[in-house]
Amino acid sequence: MKILVTGGLGFIGSNFILKLLQKENGFEIINVDAKLFGSNPHNLDEIKNSGRYEFVSGNITNKNLMNELISKCDSVVNFAAETFVDRSIKDANPFLVSNIRGAFTLMDITTKQNKRFVQVSTDEVFGSLESTTAMEDSKFNPSSPYAATKAAAELLANSYSITYDSDIVITRCSNNFGPRQFPEKLIPKIIILAEQNKKIPIYGNGKNIRDWIFVEDHCEAVLASLLKGKSGQSYNIAANNEIDNISIVTKILEIMNKSQDLIEFVEDRPGHDQRYSMSSAKISKELGWKMQTEFEDGLEKTISWYMENPQIWKNLDSNIFGSTPWKVSN
Ligand SMILES: NC(=O)c1ccc[n+]([C@@H]2O[C@H](COP(=O)([O-])OP(=O)(O)OC[C@H]3O[C@@H](n4cnc5c(N)ncnc54)[C@H](O)[C@@H]3O)[C@@H](O)[C@H]2O)c1
Repeated sequence: MKILVTGGLGFIGSNFILKLLQKENGFEIINVDAKLFGSNPHNLDEIKNSGRYEFVSGNITNKNLMNELISKCDSVVNFAAETFVDRSIKDANPFLVSNIRGAFTLMDITTKQNKRFVQVSTDEVFGSLESTTAMEDSKFNPSSPYAATKAAAELLANSYSITYDSDIVITRCSNNFGPRQFPEKLIPKIIILAEQNKKIPIYGNGKNIRDWIFVEDHCEAVLASLLKGKSGQSYNIAANNEIDNISIVTKILEIMNKSQDLIEFVEDRPGHDQRYSMSSAKISKELGWKMQTEFEDGLEKTISWYMENPQIWKNLDSNIFGSTPWKVSN
């Protein structure tokens, strides 16, 4: 099976590609990525000479290029997106382009070429939930421009399933962590700042709750959805591991043997959702997916990876580690 993976130089896409190439099924991959902010070409250094892997530099909004690449593949998994909520607050336009126009370009071509399309989405489409847990058919209520663009892509995908009977599956995952995540995101940022004994900014009171999943478990769920997911269906992927930010930073500092005094509470992000929560009962029951990695084990693997790969983060612009990224001017 030959798969076009989009956004494969990013965090989850690169982990997905590495996982697929380790499997015995003989998957072949074309990875198309526009090398935008947050991507890292070194994420896939170890497979660059693999005969089953090809990298193409390009944008998913490029219709001609996508037509050509999709014609060489059996299916498409769309990870490509602008993903940092804070940057979507500063300027939403690139998010509309990649996350809506890009997803549209891919689903339109896969429909015409009769190929399966997996749209990788997020729990953020459901917005903040006080005490309930979202099921697949729960109401969308996105708070950030990022989440709104992901919800928009889902609505388009849904309309394509209904109108054209397109072979589309949507996966919706909670917060990922693990190796290869760009250091602007919470967990790598904490690890890298802690390693340097620098202050760690925590938004607001640190009580915001996310459901944290190890990236490899998410990748297995996306693969199960690609191979066995029912056309026109969506699958929530959750870890049943709801934790607030302050508990995460405390745990990482404990594992790294660093002082809790490094924590610094800073101004809260506008529209900061209080809690996300989803049930993954459907994907477990219908596709047999199960979480494999305990949170602490995943955290330890993640910390070790960042300690063993300082070249990934040593020379990054200090703004990336700033306390209010949505205000940064470049
Ligand atoms: N990280 C999470 O916790 C999480 C949770 C749920 C869902 N998701 C979704 O998973 C996907 C991957 O997230 P991630 O954390 O790996 O993101 P990331 O920012 O690490 O990687 C995204 C990649 O997409 C590429 N890209 C962006 N726009 C593109 C375009 N127009 N054309 C080609 N390439 C483009 C970037 O260059 C980058 O390499 C996204 O769709 C995101 O919405 C992420």
